[in-house]
Amino acid sequence: MKHIRNFCIIAHIDHGKSTLADRLLDFTGSVTEREKQDQLLDSMDLERERGITIKSHAIQMEYTFEGQDYILNLIDTPGHVDFSYEVSRSIAACEGALLIVDAAQSIQAQTISNLYLALENDLEIIPILNKVDLPSANPEEVTDDIVDLLGCDPEEIIHASGKTGFGVDNILEAIIKRIPHPKGNYDEPLQALIFDSVYNSFRGVETYFRVMNGSIKKGQRIKFVATNKEYNADEVGTLKLSQVVRKEIKTGDVGYLITGIKDAREVKVGDTITDAKNPTTKVLAGFEDVKPMVFAGIYPVDTEDYEELRNSMEKLQLNDASLVFVPESSAALGFGFRCGFLGMLHMEIIQERLEREFNMTVITTVPNVSYHAFKRKDPDEIIIVNNPTDLPDPSSLDRVEEPYIKATIITKSDYIGNIMSLCIEKRGLITNQTYLTTERVELTFDMPLAEIVFDFYDRLKTVSKGYASFDYSPIGLRASKLVRVDILLNAQPVDALSSLIHADNAHNIGKKMCEKLKELIPRQQFDIPIQAAIGAKIISRETIKALRKDVTAKCYGGDISRKRKLLEKQKKGKKRMRQVGNVEIPQQAFMAVLKLN
Ligand code: GTP
Repeated sequence: MKHIRNFCIIAHIDHGKSTLADRLLDFTGSVTEREKQDQLLDSMDLERERGITIKSHAIQMEYTFEGQDYILNLIDTPGHVDFSYEVSRSIAACEGALLIVDAAQSIQAQTISNLYLALENDLEIIPILNKVDLPSANPEEVTDDIVDLLGCDPEEIIHASGKTGFGVDNILEAIIKRIPHPKGNYDEPLQALIFDSVYNSFRGVETYFRVMNGSIKKGQRIKFVATNKEYNADEVGTLKLSQVVRKEIKTGDVGYLITGIKDAREVKVGDTITDAKNPTTKVLAGFEDVKPMVFAGIYPVDTEDYEELRNSMEKLQLNDASLVFVPESSAALGFGFRCGFLGMLHMEIIQERLEREFNMTVITTVPNVSYHAFKRKDPDEIIIVNNPTDLPDPSSLDRVEEPYIKATIITKSDYIGNIMSLCIEKRGLITNQTYLTTERVELTFDMPLAEIVFDFYDRLKTVSKGYASFDYSPIGLRASKLVRVDILLNAQPVDALSSLIHADNAHNIGKKMCEKLKELIPRQQFDIPIQAAIGAKIISRETIKALRKDVTAKCYGGDISRKRKLLEKQKKGKKRMRQVGNVEIPQQAFMAVLKLN
């Protein structure tokens, strides 16, 4: 135990966490030449393509320092806000954290929010000034910023570059010298924290854990405390680049467990593993169910594929427990599912995985957050509205509440004005403004979640020319004046295009929706009126003019291959279209409400 160090790396997105982790693996000889590959820890294809870490992973390194062998367990954490719960679990499994700060970007919103998480868990913080090789690096100023933030000595900050490998030896030395070894008692009953799990189609769910007390042995009868289910520890081991089977994982160490569980939902990140016969009385604090933030309908493009879609979603859920879904039906789209996601990125990933791994073509409807509605006749009963069509008749409503968040934005003082206007437009209320340095300021706002989950981040980047970083955390629900804006195509309401909007913005948004849909819906052989309505009242109208659409008409010279190509192209373009009544609606139309600005 004395020679184990458990640590994580925390940073704002793109400050170089995965790259630095690779260098640590190289330096400690944890990877063979053959295994070398950029960003080793990001094993999912999607992760590599998008260059982001979606799931956290752990890896064990061995390192000899001053003649003594050490085991270093690195627990990698995801950087995107959608996956922040996993960051907090990873942090709880460690005694120390490398806090990486980009020498050109300095401290950003997630640097601070992750740092606070680490401090709440009493982790030893090792500040690292990364990317010092960059010509735009500004080490003096960023050092001052870090000193201000942590109250540390400038000498404690390690200069490094994940790109060149500079400083990696100093980082390893600091991990050994500054991070405390794990505490805990080998003779106590087993108590292990689950910080992650992954699904493996051959072996079932692999659970990653950190042993706090006791040990976990192959063949042991174990119990998961939150789910109260018992299993056999069929296999335990440590996490090198590939797994190494062991007989026992002892106090302080990190490992994996295989029990034959086939459903990812049975393994809850944050849960405690204990001995079934001799359970621990101490349950590790901080377990919570991960709650979806964004809801949207997913429908097969072809109504006949409903059952196949259900099968695919069930399989996806087996390896992504944060995906939730229930069947729903839409007058416009037929049978499909209302799905809950951690955020917009998660939603995009699910849609992409359905298409790549399961070959499904799906339509995703307008996303929304989860509202609470209360009726006048029973004002205490909460009606959860995850779909705008579930909102009770306005005349029966007492009130509607919507989720709010506290948004933290760090920016240069030049952009305060722009950011204020954006946040006010998004119904934000400023709650604080603090100068971190003379140049950099931290703004906090209370804002409706609905206003930030969609395009807020992109807008913020634009108005700040990229000089703003952003983070948020939920602060509960607040009453709000919301109305449902419905869309009618050819006089038929299309329920999948309805959205809940603040009453003050409803007219404006309804108008913009009609304009946008006019752009997005292809012309057909007849005029298509587009109307926006609140209840029975039409608030806006546009018309798509009829056009005989014959894409091959202009190829009358008879170049048959060119003609065929065009037809193929048209067919492909059709794939993501949905026939509603006699109008064909492309996928983008369902996302139109998100792209109105
Ligand atoms: P997430 O996993 O998405 O949170 O990102 P990350 O923090 O792991 O960052 P990543 O390691 O993916 O690096 C982000 C970008 O910075 C990549 O384009 C890297 O090539 C680049 N980068 C990382 N470290 C260095 C460095 O030390 N110097 C330079 N010049 N570039 C670096």
